[in-house]
Amino acid sequence: MTGRVAGKIALVTGGAQGLGEAAARMLAREGAKVAVSDVNAKGAEKVAASINQFHPGAAIALAHDVTREDEWQAVIAEIERAFGGLHILINNAGIGGGSDVESTSLEVWRRIHLVDLESVFLGCKSAIPLMASTVKKTGLGGSIVNISSIAGIIAGHNMAAYNSAKAGVRHLSKSVALHCAKRGYNIRSNSVHPVFIATPILDNLVERFGKEEAYAKLGRQVPLGKIGEPDDIAYAVLYLASDESKFVTGAELKVDGGISAM
Ligand SMILES: NC(=O)c1ccc[n+]([C@@H]2O[C@H](COP(=O)([O-])OP(=O)(O)OC[C@H]3O[C@@H](n4cnc5c(N)ncnc54)[C@H](O)[C@@H]3O)[C@@H](O)[C@H]2O)c1
Repeated sequence: MTGRVAGKIALVTGGAQGLGEAAARMLAREGAKVAVSDVNAKGAEKVAASINQFHPGAAIALAHDVTREDEWQAVIAEIERAFGGLHILINNAGIGGGSDVESTSLEVWRRIHLVDLESVFLGCKSAIPLMASTVKKTGLGGSIVNISSIAGIIAGHNMAAYNSAKAGVRHLSKSVALHCAKRGYNIRSNSVHPVFIATPILDNLVERFGKEEAYAKLGRQVPLGKIGEPDDIAYAVLYLASDESKFVTGAELKVDGGISAM
């Protein structure tokens, strides 16, 4: 088998659409077996079926709410049963939303931290044992890629909970990196920080202004003058998932059109 992640087994959460779908397709194209998980089980099945059209047997779909520890355990067990192990974990599932600190209810604060941060903790905790044994058995490196956001590095006045949760993902990724290094697991952990990317997460804005105007409005905030495409992030994920990045751990990869350079 050829490809940049040939012979590896990956789990992409939130894989039914957007950045997760793009990452799942990219990893399969580059030789990995991919479990596509999502709380939207039908969407995950559609993506897995369409990957299997081009790469027969490469993908499975799993119903998975990333906020639930019991579902994490079931998903990891199912991947072991179906594919025999796990090398790559892409913690991608997430939600946007929220507002400024005064207007954010405790309920919304907790929900955003649950889906965007606590899920990443659960994912790392649940997947690392199988990843460590798979890496040992196969001799292929392991990699955890956590999809944070540029909002985890640059704050905004109207996204208190999202800023906090995504900043937490950035630092948790480093703690996981150091833990895995100390244990000698040959599993790396890094975070990716996208700026605005054209996915359904921007639907609210698209509904308000229309697609063209919404994307142009956001693009004006980015030095490169436009918002990104899902594959801009999928290429970053592929690099971090593959052994090309075998000396990169605890790093934060900004894919942000230059916004954090300002
Ligand atoms: N698109 C952007 O502009 C952008 C920018 C920075 C960071 N991000 C981050 O990238 C990740 C993917 O975002 P996207 O743009 O593809 O969003 P999206 O809304 O298009 O897709 C998110 C996916 O996650 C799934 N999901 C939501 N809650 C879940 C849960 N509890 N369990 C399992 N699956 C769940 C959804 O069903 C959906 O398929 C998110 O973590 C998001 O915060 C996106």
